[in-house]
Amino acid sequence: MASPPCLAGVGMLFSARRWGDVGVADLSRKALNIEDLRQMARRRLTKALFEFSDRGSEDEVAMRDNRAALDRIKLMPRILNDVSGRDPAITLFGKPQALPLVIGPTGPAGFVWYRGETALARAAATAGIPYTLSSTGNTPMEKILSHGGGTQWYQLYVWHDVEASLVTVERVREAGFEALMVTVDSPAANNREFDIRNGAVFPPRVTVRGAMDSLRHPRWLVGTLGRYVLAERGMPGFPNVHIPDHYTPEQRQGFLARNDTLTWDFLRRVRDMWPRTLIVKGILHPGDAVMAADCGADGIVVSNHAGNTNDAALTPIDALPAVVDAVGDRLTIIVDSGFRRGSDVLKGLALGADAVAVGRATLYGVSAAGEAGASRALQILEAEIHRTMGVMGLTDLQSISRDHVVLPPDMPVYERRIA
Ligand SMILES: Cc1cc2nc3c(=O)[nH]c(=O)nc-3n(C[C@H](O)[C@H](O)[C@H](O)COP(=O)(O)O)c2cc1C
Repeated sequence: MASPPCLAGVGMLFSARRWGDVGVADLSRKALNIEDLRQMARRRLTKALFEFSDRGSEDEVAMRDNRAALDRIKLMPRILNDVSGRDPAITLFGKPQALPLVIGPTGPAGFVWYRGETALARAAATAGIPYTLSSTGNTPMEKILSHGGGTQWYQLYVWHDVEASLVTVERVREAGFEALMVTVDSPAANNREFDIRNGAVFPPRVTVRGAMDSLRHPRWLVGTLGRYVLAERGMPGFPNVHIPDHYTPEQRQGFLARNDTLTWDFLRRVRDMWPRTLIVKGILHPGDAVMAADCGADGIVVSNHAGNTNDAALTPIDALPAVVDAVGDRLTIIVDSGFRRGSDVLKGLALGADAVAVGRATLYGVSAAGEAGASRALQILEAEIHRTMGVMGLTDLQSISRDHVVLPPDMPVYERRIA
């Protein structure tokens, strides 16, 4: 007779050499694509955590559109080029890197895997690409920087206390992160009804349903929650968020509310105090891209936050051409939201992006199997980029251009007006 899941989990715990690797490190090798990793993540995580990582806001229109828009764009190959020596390397912010990818910030990385942020940083370092640590990471930033290695960037959310957020910027500067990425697309809380139903809210709600959900997922319960509980006496908090000492417990509870008063002056302030690469994340309008350049940013991420903030927002791949026309010669442009295949990445580059950021692809990987799973996600994307370069007749990514894509006739009106 099969043992109950919680007992099976305890058994695995005691037989595992390292808890975080409870019998799953090899599993991710079987993944042939990002969707396989997604299914592995679904099986390992609680429903609440999986849906938090996987779903969009409201009716998930923007999330579906992100995929549909990429699928509508077609690649136009050129033939009879010798593509035997093809190389997907690029230079981003003056630094060579092995692939045209960046791991974007994803808040729950440390909840889906014990020290998941470090696992992601290591996977990025192995692949030769930058890793971006989210503001809501669960491990002190200095530890991730030293244990993860490679090129690391820090993503900043500005909470309602602006001065406290600027203290964090000073800490990020002292720690030595190479770039600061300021996320500007979330002045209001997102509306994710399933998160409320699942209790995946802040502060978390402990419910019978949540407890049953955890018991049904013993690998996560033991390998992640169990490991935190024993090592740190509970789930980790947000060690990178600066909360002033004089705050009352009630003020602390409400601290993670987003700031809805920010203007371009805030970005100018950050520019004055941040000496290294400054990236603004969450731009769709070419006029905002021009403003970011005028405020001294070095780069932008054209993003609709994977459909997590504004369910009626334009998709980034549709917004990209107009943004490139407006600031392509002034800023480094990264695009994200919905990229799951190497061919998607080539579409982004062909439309003028300098690199593509992935959020869920590596989040699924780390959820499925920690560092090995995140590395598997990047290996899959690398192989697909390499293969697609071959069938496109490309030996390098510097020569990719709008000539390599055919845009659909129903491209959103804004793009056609600009073009
Ligand atoms: C579960 C989840 C958590 C995220 N957390 C953050 C975050 O903390 N900060 C941020 O700027 N963006 C965050 N994002 C957005 C990602 O950085 C990125 O814009 C998006 O995931 C890209 O789309 P993709 O997931 O389809 O690749 C998050 C996205 C997801 C799916």
